[in-house]
Amino acid sequence: MTLLIQNGTVVNTDSNKIADVLCKDGKIIKIEKDLIPDSTPDKIIDASNCYVIPGGIDPHVHMHLPSPAGFSSDDFGSGSRAAIYGGTTTLIDFVTPKKGQALNDAISQRKSEAANCLTNYAFHVSPVEWRDSMEDEIRNCVNKEGFKSFKVYMAYKDSIGLNDDVLMKVMKAVSKAGGMVTVHCELGDDIEELRTQFASDNKLSPKYHSLSRPAELEAKAVKKAIELAKVANCPLYIVHVSTKASLKYISEAQENGQVVMAESCPQYLLLDDSKYNGVFNQVAPFVMSPPLRKPSDNAALWEAISNRTVLTVGTDHCPFTQEQKEMGKDDFRKIPNGAGGVEHRLALLFTYGVLGGRISMEQFVSITSTNASKIFGMFPAKGIIAEGSDADIVIWNPGKENTISVKTHHQNCDMNIYEGIKTKGTPEYVILDGKVVLEKNRLSQDIRKGSLLKTKPF
Ligand code: URP
Ligand code: ZN
Repeated sequence: MTLLIQNGTVVNTDSNKIADVLCKDGKIIKIEKDLIPDSTPDKIIDASNCYVIPGGIDPHVHMHLPSPAGFSSDDFGSGSRAAIYGGTTTLIDFVTPKKGQALNDAISQRKSEAANCLTNYAFHVSPVEWRDSMEDEIRNCVNKEGFKSFKVYMAYKDSIGLNDDVLMKVMKAVSKAGGMVTVHCELGDDIEELRTQFASDNKLSPKYHSLSRPAELEAKAVKKAIELAKVANCPLYIVHVSTKASLKYISEAQENGQVVMAESCPQYLLLDDSKYNGVFNQVAPFVMSPPLRKPSDNAALWEAISNRTVLTVGTDHCPFTQEQKEMGKDDFRKIPNGAGGVEHRLALLFTYGVLGGRISMEQFVSITSTNASKIFGMFPAKGIIAEGSDADIVIWNPGKENTISVKTHHQNCDMNIYEGIKTKGTPEYVILDGKVVLEKNRLSQDIRKGSLLKTKPF
């Protein structure tokens, strides 16, 4: 199968030029201006007036995530389909074992849950406790399974969260094995105290979710995670940074030469805590952890993207339906945490980042694809338009306007936190492993299942 993409503006992190791109059997084989192929291609796409960019890599999604309110409402099939509609061709989800479950057993289970994934995908693995065999299990993940990224939670102490002593043991084991720790930074014990206090004062409406998770408890957790990682000599990636106060510790560590990387999400760049004013059904969709912050935090995060303190933007895609959110109608502590967004990441970042004058087109490619590929060991197969790389490509039409709505989105959810937000720019074509899977907003009928990617050491 050969595919020729003509006359597009090919954008990588360090270049932006008009060229033709020839793909064969899933790989990019030639990039040249006015390229003349040896034989007639099976398909030719005219990409005039469009950008040709690497397929999006979303480093943070939770498909089919178990919660007391049931599974997050997108499974790997529906969530990856929505991802393709938005120009994302690789997802990184999570393996979260039950207490007592061996990591390799949890990995096998997660592999079967992900079997209907339409995009390529990889996993972060979460140690949720410490036991004598954990160091070997972590080493096994890195050397045999090909998973190098380990996600730990400082929040959620009643379920998957880790105490500091366990965090340190995990970091040391991961460092020894040649992996990387990714961390959800919120101080779980302090949050639990605030939640209990609000509940005993009968303050149970959803806005208390936000008030029980103040920005300083994220920033303090960031500071602590950085300190622990320094002692453990472990590369650190901080997920969903939401506040300016955290950025100070991250940039200080980076200036001191420590390997500390940071991710943010569109919701922390574009939405703010005014969403927590209103009645239950208005507020509950925005119950997520960490919660939305202030407009000044939005601005600081954009600045951090522009100066490379923050290297990636994932979505933390974790949608729940209205019915699921209503589990917490009488108690904010029972509202399942999370919201969807996997479909909208590129359009939001293009509209409010590139067209908003905050980032260049090259930075757009960095934060939506290349940096995640490099950090999570997929480069140069993914995250770049280059000869020899995988043909995961998006042909981006910068002119097409859209208004995000639950009526037209493809996420399996009856609400959308970006409802009514206008975007400009859309994936006109999405090419996955050299095959056109989305053409002018129409999904191909015969998409193959995506592949589970093995990631190389950091
Ligand atoms: O509220 C969120 N983010 N839910 C998903 C789980 C997590 O904490 O990442
Ligand atoms: Zn998450």
